[in-house]
Amino acid sequence: MLDGLIADKPDISIVLGSGLGDFAKSINIRNTISTSSLPGYPASTIQGHEGKIISGEYSGKSILLFQGRIHFYEGYKINECLLPVLISKKMGAKKILLTNAAGGINPNFHPGDLMLATSFNSINIKKELLEVTGLPTAETKNFLLDFPTEEINKIIRLSAEQENIDIVEGTYWYTKGPSYETPAEIQMIKIFGGDAVGMSTAYEGIFASLLGLQTGSISCITNYAAGISNKKLNHSEVTDTANNVKDKFERLVKRVISLI
Ligand code: HPA
Repeated sequence: MLDGLIADKPDISIVLGSGLGDFAKSINIRNTISTSSLPGYPASTIQGHEGKIISGEYSGKSILLFQGRIHFYEGYKINECLLPVLISKKMGAKKILLTNAAGGINPNFHPGDLMLATSFNSINIKKELLEVTGLPTAETKNFLLDFPTEEINKIIRLSAEQENIDIVEGTYWYTKGPSYETPAEIQMIKIFGGDAVGMSTAYEGIFASLLGLQTGSISCITNYAAGISNKKLNHSEVTDTANNVKDKFERLVKRVISLI
């Protein structure tokens, strides 16, 4: 699909989450493709998701950026939502960093924190994912274990240390959306061990892992999850917080790129 438009094999592919798309400005851009020019590529319908695929360079590393992701809750089929991962694999990437906005559930998390995902809960998407892969269940069971990849997490921790950025760590809990959770749902997720909640990333990460990519995830905690504070949730709070932490996020991700 992108042959000839993006020539370089990426050292890392990065999916930019809600409000984090500005990161693209911090690399040396070689080529930008609007996803609307790609036949069959789902249109981005969410504010803060531009719908661009960018190739570029930073610190001698070749990078493939997805500025805008495809969410399952937008009504697309799961295989369409996995296109950024599939394209990354086809372009030859061996590593992928998934970034996202998430609601904080852990009482120690606050809006503006960056969370390294140590684990994922995606039980409500596994069936769709397994159907898409067509792999025998026994095989997928083994594969599922390597997401997130510890090697990538080590690099993220080291990057945070070198940049003097305090990051938090925890379990990302996937919900399908499209509406935010209710306080009762968040209470349940909290009891079950979820530290942050979001509507993306889990399906991409599992699929990337199935394709043999090393995969990591950084969440920007953009808000307290429903009921954790009395504040009403809205998407502009998500994009505003993401915007406020963009310098910290940019430094962290740039350092990750230089250390991979
Ligand atoms: N819930 C689900 N997804 C999110 C949230 C949230 O509170 N914040 C950002 N993405």
